[in-house]
Amino acid sequence: MQTKVWVVDKNVEENKSCSQLVDAASLIRSGEVVAFPTETVYGLGANALSDTAVEKIFKAKGRPSDNPLIVHIGEASQLDDIVSDVPPKAKQLIDAFWPGPLTMFLPKKAGIAARVTAGLSTVGVRMPDHPIALALIKEAGVPIAAPSANRSGRPSPTTREHVQLDLDGRIAGIVDGGSTGVGVESTTIDMTTEPPMIHRPGGITYEQIREVIGDVAIDPAFLGEKEQQPISPGMKYKHYAPEGELWLVEGKQAQEKMQSLLQEAKQKGLTTGVMVPIEQVDAWKDSALVDLIVPCGSIYSLEDVAHDLYTALRRFDESGVQFILAETFPRKGLGMAIMNRLEKAASHRIIST
Ligand code: TXA
Ligand code: MG
Repeated sequence: MQTKVWVVDKNVEENKSCSQLVDAASLIRSGEVVAFPTETVYGLGANALSDTAVEKIFKAKGRPSDNPLIVHIGEASQLDDIVSDVPPKAKQLIDAFWPGPLTMFLPKKAGIAARVTAGLSTVGVRMPDHPIALALIKEAGVPIAAPSANRSGRPSPTTREHVQLDLDGRIAGIVDGGSTGVGVESTTIDMTTEPPMIHRPGGITYEQIREVIGDVAIDPAFLGEKEQQPISPGMKYKHYAPEGELWLVEGKQAQEKMQSLLQEAKQKGLTTGVMVPIEQVDAWKDSALVDLIVPCGSIYSLEDVAHDLYTALRRFDESGVQFILAETFPRKGLGMAIMNRLEKAASHRIIST
């Protein structure tokens, strides 16, 4: 299959028809699969009302069929077609954070393709905060089911090039809107429990949610209590880890520890890399212990770190680095999502100094 590419200006005006998006939307309506940018990562979209269309997402990604998809809507009124109940706290979160990187699990209505929810009684819904995504959903006239637009087990794509590397020839098209903003996926929260429970930390923080609805639980499965079975099917699957062995190093003696670990790796004849905030690049620049230094954001901005994270992790594989060290970030605010993704990428190898 030839994968079409439409380059669309990120600032596409919502109510002005754009020929590329008309084309992309008509493919979605006809049951094809199209990748598009959201404010978090690129999504792989199909008509959420059609089982055969949704099936193509699973096929293109190589995604296990028991892993449900998030449904993307363009306006809050579409929610009524998808869910049977919007509890008061969900309404509060909608008012506070939509459009934005927050996915809510709500009781599903018939009509949503069974494949979307993988047999669960709830459906994950969000309204993305990206002009292209919103315009595409509006033009398609149907809710769009979309997981991240990567092959299963690969990092979520934050540019059109990432999508192409994984899915070129396997999908009908890609809407290229440049690099995405947040860089890590949406926060997911189950609104059918009391208190509601966060299952994946993401672009909207635990602290922000607490401020609006008060008490919020956190799925113990992502707090390092590994024996817990996560409730979100997707969280149990192996997530992206670089080919090389990634270790996270934290604490006061992190720098010294990194030096000695790199020395050992070099003695074993391994190629080495470090992932550090931009402020620390100079400190490593002249070190004979490091073959590849990958900057990732700034110590002053977790937003920048999240934005750069997946691109940075991909760079080690591109250069075939065998031993990788990364520093950790405070597990607060957006740091909770960053550390969740880093810990998975490192298969929970963390050294505290
Ligand atoms: O930012 C994002 O959320 C991106 C963009 C494209 O919107 N999407 C994304 O989708 O990250 P995906 O499929 O890669 O991750 C969705 C996660 C999976 O872990 C899935 O198992 C879980 O949400 N999930 C979806 N619906 C669910 C439901 N009804 N109950 C429990 N978990 C659900
Ligand atoms: Mg994903």
